[in-house]
Amino acid sequence: MNSDNFNKPLLAGVIGNPIFQSKSPILHNFWLKQYKINGYYIPIHTEVNDLKNTINSLVTLGFRGVNVTIPFKTAILSIADTITDRASIIGAANTLYFNLNGKITADNTDGYGFKQNIYNGYPSWNPKAGPAVVFGAGGAAKAIIHTLLSEGVPKVIILNRTKAKANAIAENFGNKVEVIDWYASNIALNGAAIVVNATSLGMVGQPDFKINLKTLSSNAVVTDLVYNPLNTNILKESAKAGYHIVDGLGMLLYQAELGFSNWFNIKPVINDELRAFMLNNIK
Ligand code: ATR
Repeated sequence: MNSDNFNKPLLAGVIGNPIFQSKSPILHNFWLKQYKINGYYIPIHTEVNDLKNTINSLVTLGFRGVNVTIPFKTAILSIADTITDRASIIGAANTLYFNLNGKITADNTDGYGFKQNIYNGYPSWNPKAGPAVVFGAGGAAKAIIHTLLSEGVPKVIILNRTKAKANAIAENFGNKVEVIDWYASNIALNGAAIVVNATSLGMVGQPDFKINLKTLSSNAVVTDLVYNPLNTNILKESAKAGYHIVDGLGMLLYQAELGFSNWFNIKPVINDELRAFMLNNIK
């Protein structure tokens, strides 16, 4: 290795369209600075028709990998050389690793981020304690349902405004997954051990998410993927009713951990300082 290689910055980024809304550059650049790594994490905008060429250019430029966001999470699978089992089952990837031979591995770390966030916020969470109720049937919901089943949740009930999307997920994941009508949440929530809001309801600018949270099992945990605002209506109501709550910021942080570790060879720490920094920067 010549001396140039020692000074060569490590490169990673996030690719999407639009890309301005992504919080990932703020997060990864915080870690790069914290660990004094000579590296950059760059937001990259591209068009659908240019996706393959853009990815190939990043490989050529020596990027270690990228995050992938809307609308490329599914299309990216056809460009990857290897797809992890979980990305394949979920049908979407959010993280790419480029190896030294230029080969591309596509992974999905959303479910990992979800799981780590729950275990961190509620360490004695027992996935086998009872049924899970997931609101939403988008990409995030799919990754979460896969993780819940992998962790041993006995049953997952999905409710989605557009029921056909929930049905498609249920078909994909088999007989432990049930779909209930969006307006029948009272039935679904009765005795639930974990409740997940994977819709955009409750987010700044969206209507509040209002459900009856009085009939969950006594040790239930309620989590919301929405992190702006952090303390959403359902989290407030759940805390009032005495349930455990886990806010959505941690999922954003933990899903990023695997990409950063792989690209920059350091497992970043997720702590209160990071949470405070991110909260200040996502408003
Ligand atoms: P993500 O990738 O974060 O999962 P997404 O694929 O856009 O995002 O999914 C957004 C989810 O929020 C969907 O389940 C969507 O319901 P539909 O499938 O019916 O669109 C849900 N959602 C968004 N706005 C909603 C609203 N006003 N009421 C109920 N559900 C809503």
